[in-house]
Amino acid sequence: MDHKELKKEGLKKEELKKGESIFRHPGIDKLPYGGDYNPEQWPEEIWPEDMRLLKKAGIDCVTLNVFSWAALQPEEEVYCFDRLDRIMELVRENGLHVILATSTAAHPAWMARKYPEVLRTEFSGLKRRFGSRHNSCPNSPVYRKYSRRLAGKLAERYGHYENLIAWHVSNEYGGECYCENCERAFRVWLKEKYKTLEELNRAWNTSFWGHTFYDWEEIVVPNLQSEHFETDRTTFQGISLDYRRFCSDSMLENYRGEQEAIRAVTPDIPVTTNLMGFYKLLDYQKWARYMDFVSWDNYPPNEASPSIIAMNHDIMRGIGGGKPFALMEQTPSVTNWLPYNALKRPGVMRLLSWQAVAHGADTVLFFQMRRSIGACEKYHGAVIDHVGNEHTRVFGEVQALGEELKQMGDLTLGGRTPAKAAVLVDWDNWWALEYSAGPSCDLKYLDEVERYYTAFYELNIPVDFVSVEDSLDSYQIVAAPLLYMVKTGYEEVLKQYVEQGGILIATFFSGIVEEHDLVVTGGYPGRLRELLGVWVEESDALPKGASNGFVWNGKHYPAELLCDLMHLEGAVCEAVYQSDFYAGSPALSRHSYGKGTAWYVAARSSQEFYRDLVRTLAREAGVEEIWTPVPGVEVCERKNDKGSMLFFLNHGEEAAEIVVEKHGVWMPEKKESEKGERVWIEGKGVKVFLLREQD
Ligand code: GLA
Ligand code: ZN
Repeated sequence: MDHKELKKEGLKKEELKKGESIFRHPGIDKLPYGGDYNPEQWPEEIWPEDMRLLKKAGIDCVTLNVFSWAALQPEEEVYCFDRLDRIMELVRENGLHVILATSTAAHPAWMARKYPEVLRTEFSGLKRRFGSRHNSCPNSPVYRKYSRRLAGKLAERYGHYENLIAWHVSNEYGGECYCENCERAFRVWLKEKYKTLEELNRAWNTSFWGHTFYDWEEIVVPNLQSEHFETDRTTFQGISLDYRRFCSDSMLENYRGEQEAIRAVTPDIPVTTNLMGFYKLLDYQKWARYMDFVSWDNYPPNEASPSIIAMNHDIMRGIGGGKPFALMEQTPSVTNWLPYNALKRPGVMRLLSWQAVAHGADTVLFFQMRRSIGACEKYHGAVIDHVGNEHTRVFGEVQALGEELKQMGDLTLGGRTPAKAAVLVDWDNWWALEYSAGPSCDLKYLDEVERYYTAFYELNIPVDFVSVEDSLDSYQIVAAPLLYMVKTGYEEVLKQYVEQGGILIATFFSGIVEEHDLVVTGGYPGRLRELLGVWVEESDALPKGASNGFVWNGKHYPAELLCDLMHLEGAVCEAVYQSDFYAGSPALSRHSYGKGTAWYVAARSSQEFYRDLVRTLAREAGVEEIWTPVPGVEVCERKNDKGSMLFFLNHGEEAAEIVVEKHGVWMPEKKESEKGERVWIEGKGVKVFLLREQD
C-alpha cells in the first residue's frame, strides 16, 4: 500500500477545539483524577469505606470493570450484571466519574474449555491453555462474537449514566498469536493486499531460496517453526513484516468491533483503549486514527531517564495528532513486575504526574485504588494499601496532589504543545529495520530516535512526533532518524517540505528499501538520493567499542556503529572521517534544496554531537528554546484558551534556581513574578507558570 492510499484509511476525526476536554462531557471542569478500581475483588461491606477514602484523597474518577468478563458472563447464554449495577450506583451516588471498561482482555475459563480455539498459540508453536490474560486469539470467531456482544450489552445497560465519561475497550492490547485461525485470516489478509500470488511472490522476493508459492494454502505463519530462528531474526523479511502488520490489524479489528458495538448505542461517549508508549508490536500510528482519544499507561522502569519518559508521552500525543491524551495508568508508588521494585521516592509521583500533564495529558489516573490480596499484583502500589486506611505516605501524597489538581481547575485542560520541531517515526520502518539481517545487530531504531529527541529535549525545544501520514507544514526542523524504509511517494513529501524552506536531518542507513522491504536499486539512499544530494556506496559496521571520528565546527566527535561511505552529488561536505581507508571522505553533508536544507549524518555519533547539530540548525531555522536550559530541570509548554503555561519539572535531587524570563503568575498560588526574578524549585519539585499575554 503506498503512502497516499494509507492516508485515505482511518476515520475522519472531528477536531477538538483548543481548551476542550477530550471527554466532551459537561461535568469535566478539571483533570479527572483517580484510576482503576476493582471492587469486584472485595466483599461489598468494604465499598462504603472505599468511597470515603477515595473522596478524602480528592479522587473524582474511577475506571471500572477492567477484568470482570467471567463474572458478567458466567455461562455462554447467561449474563449477570447485578454486582456491576450496584458498583455503578455506588460511584454515581458518590459523585465519581466513570471510565467503563469492557472486560475483554481476559476471557472466562468456560470459554477456553468449550472453545479451545479462543486460546493463543505462541511464537514457538506452543498452544496455550486457559490462564493469565491477553490470551485470546484475535482472529477467533468465538472471541470476536462474545467480546463485541459484551461491549454492546454494557453500552445498553450503562450508556445512560450521566457520570460515564468514556469507554475503555479491553486492556493493553498486545502480544501475537500464531494459531490456525490466524493462519487462515493471514491468507485472507494477504489476498486482499496482493490480489495475486504473482504479486505476493514478487513483493516477498520468493525466488530467493526457492520459496515460490503456487497456492495460497502453502503460506504458513512465520514463526520459530518456519522462517524465524530467533524472535527478531527471520530468513524472509517480507512475510515476517507482513505478519507484524497483520497481527496489529487483527487486534485493531477487535478494538474496532467493540467500539462499533458501543458507538451504536452511545455515539457521543468517547471510546479508547490504553496503549503503552513506544510499544513495538502494534502500529499505534494506525490505531490512533480509529480511537476517539489516545490513552496510555506510564510505567517507567527505575532507571528510565526523564527524557525517555517524556519521549513516550510525546509519541502518545503525536499519534493522536497533537491532541491531549489520557494518562490512564501509573503506579502511585511501586510496581510488582520489575526484578527490583523500588519505591517512588517522596515527591516523584507528583513530579511524574505533572510531567505527563506538561506533555499533553488531560487526566491523572492510577493503577490502582485498592491493593489486592492475592495473585501477582498483591504487591503493586495502590492508593489504599493493605493496611486499609489513610495514614500512609502514599495516601498522603495522592491526597496532596488531589488537592492541588482541584485548585488548578481547568487551567491546563485541552492545552496544546506549540512545537516547531518534529521527529519522524514510522512503525513499519521500525519493524523492517530490526528484522534486517545486517549490517549490524546493534542497529536499533529507538536508540537513534531517542538521541535526536533527547537533543531537542535538553535544549527545551518542544518536539512533536510525526508519522509519514502527517503534514510537515507547521515544522521548521524535522529529524528523520534511520529512515531505512521510504514508502512509495514519501520522498515527495520530504522534498516538498525542504523545497519550501524546511530543514531536514537524515541519517545513515536511510532510503534503502521500499514498503515491501525490497531494496531500491540504483544507489543508496534510494528515493532520498536526489534530496540529500549524496550517493552512499558502502556502509561499514563497526564492532562495539570501535570508533572512527570527524571534526565539525572545530570540535571532535566520534563516528560509531555504522559509517556510510558516500560521494557528494550536490551536497556540501561539512566534516570528513578521520581514519581508516575512507579517511578524508564525507561523514556529514548539507544539501541546499529549494529554500531549505537537507543534512545527512553518515554515522552514529555522541549525544554531544546531536545536541550541537540540533542547536545549530534550530538557530538557523529560528526555532527557539522555550526557556534557557537549567541542568536537570525540564521545561514544557501548553497553550489553551486560558493562555500559555510553562511547566518546570526538577528531576534532580537538589533545589534548582531559575531566572524568570517573562512576566507571569505561579499557579495555583497566583504569585506574580517579573522578569529577572530568581525562583527556586525544590529537588523533585514542580512549578506551573502562567504567562501574561502582554509580554
Ligand atoms: C498494566 C495493566 C494493569 C496492571 C498494571 C500493573 O498497566 O493495564 O491491569 O496490571 O499493568 O502495573
Ligand atoms: Zn490466533
